[in-house]
Amino acid sequence: MKLTSKNRFNEIMGLIAPVALIGMLASNSAAAREPFTPAELKAQEKALLASVDHGRDLWHGSKPSMSSNGLACGNCHPDAAASNPQTFPKFQANLGKVIPIRDMINWCIMVPQMGEALDVNGDDMTAMEAYAFYMYRGITIEPGLATRQTGPVKVKSGPGFPKKGSGIGYDK
Ligand code: HEC
Repeated sequence: MKLTSKNRFNEIMGLIAPVALIGMLASNSAAAREPFTPAELKAQEKALLASVDHGRDLWHGSKPSMSSNGLACGNCHPDAAASNPQTFPKFQANLGKVIPIRDMINWCIMVPQMGEALDVNGDDMTAMEAYAFYMYRGITIEPGLATRQTGPVKVKSGPGFPKKGSGIGYDK
């Protein structure tokens, strides 16, 4: 075998890797994490609720780039109504394929709101999802369930979304 630098590298790694692996296994075997303390759990919930809160603001028009016609998600989906996060992923006829909810959120930003899509991997998108899922917690997960929504939800109060809490979920 010709001794190229690549072969040499493989040869060295062949010697080092098993030693490193045994070392890792030995040091990790008894290293299962302690259960979270109540203080840690509280901090985690606080972080989650901060994301849910941010999502609620975005859902109600706090980011101007998400709309160029004055509409916010809350106008058609008050309290995340009819967003049905528990049914995703599913086939979306508009897009002709199975999509996660983030693609539907961006569709609604770009089409009904004529705005700029969110980065699907960004914190704003996570917050949009956190809000929608939080509002639907306790609902059975049924991915693929086609919903019969054909038009925007009619809003009874105010110029769009209700100003007062609806009493549902997060909005109590
Ligand atoms: C002008 C009204 C309107 C606005 C504003 C609007 N949507 Fe929608 N939304 C719809 C309609 C209509 C559908 C149904 C589309 C379809 O199924 O083809 C829908 C569907 C959805 C769905 C999928 C629901 C399901 O059961 O499949 C999600 C999620 C959603 N919208 C989120 C949002 C979010 C997030 C925003 C704000 C960025 C938003 N929508 C803004 C009208 C609107």
